[in-house]
Amino acid sequence: MKKVALVTGANKGLGLEMAKQLAQKGIQVILTARDPEKGAKAIKELELLGLNVELLQLETTSSSDIQRVKEYIESKYGKLDILINNAGMIQGEGWGGNSVETISMSNIRETFDTNFFSLIEITLALLPLIKKAEAGRIINMSSIMGSLTLHASEGSPIYDSKPFAYNASKTAVNQFTVHLAHTLKGTSVKVFSAHPGWVKTALGTDYAPMNVTEGAKTGVDLALDLVNVPSGSYTHLGQSLPW
Ligand SMILES: NC(=O)c1ccc[n+]([C@@H]2O[C@H](COP(=O)([O-])OP(=O)(O)OC[C@H]3O[C@@H](n4cnc5c(N)ncnc54)[C@H](OP(=O)(O)O)[C@@H]3O)[C@@H](O)[C@H]2O)c1
Repeated sequence: MKKVALVTGANKGLGLEMAKQLAQKGIQVILTARDPEKGAKAIKELELLGLNVELLQLETTSSSDIQRVKEYIESKYGKLDILINNAGMIQGEGWGGNSVETISMSNIRETFDTNFFSLIEITLALLPLIKKAEAGRIINMSSIMGSLTLHASEGSPIYDSKPFAYNASKTAVNQFTVHLAHTLKGTSVKVFSAHPGWVKTALGTDYAPMNVTEGAKTGVDLALDLVNVPSGSYTHLGQSLPW
């Protein structure tokens, strides 16, 4: 049976590009989107390239959506080889705003709901299916912005980029990666935190230097074992990042 991959938040940006690249490699891809219309538009784009990708509606903060997706995969495939936890957001004033002094509690809660809590819920719901795959791979789309070491190092490329909720949510994702890798030791499942680079998308803005084709590489390479890094790693293009 073909390998099966699920990508969250894949109607645009890095998620769509990773779904495309995985499908081009012969993987059966399930593209998920919270808005079915946007999802259908993305599927059409891929169909024009001759790619046959499945669409499932998934609002990642919805427990009932997560259960429905899990039951669908269980009954249709009985396993999941690749999970890419890609859906993510930054709220409010963007990269320059959201300082720790001025940010609202609702901003922090909403950001953590999407970027952290739902990522855990999806992963744990799908883990029994991932364990049924021959060599399950979980890729958590983190960010260099989650690096405590770089945030604390004057002169680092992210030292003055302090949107608090986003950064803290990605640090939390990294902690989840490390804990899950520890739990999965001795199994065939590997889990990674991936930094795609600063990429031109709605989230990354037009100022970003990388395009989505380049940005998708870190996640796709980890999903397909094209780089050799240990489970629990935090990497960009195969290179370790400081935690
Ligand atoms: N771009 C960068 O430079 C960069 C750098 C480091 C890390 N990342 C990470 O890479 C991932 C993808 O980012 P991107 O740049 O591709 O962003 P993007 O173009 O804004 O795409 C984000 C995707 O996530 C979806 N999404 C957001 N909240 C969701 C929710 N609650 N339920 C379901 N889907 C949801 C969005 O759906 P809608 O279209 O419906 O809003 C969209 O499909 C994110 O985790 C981001 O933090 C990006």
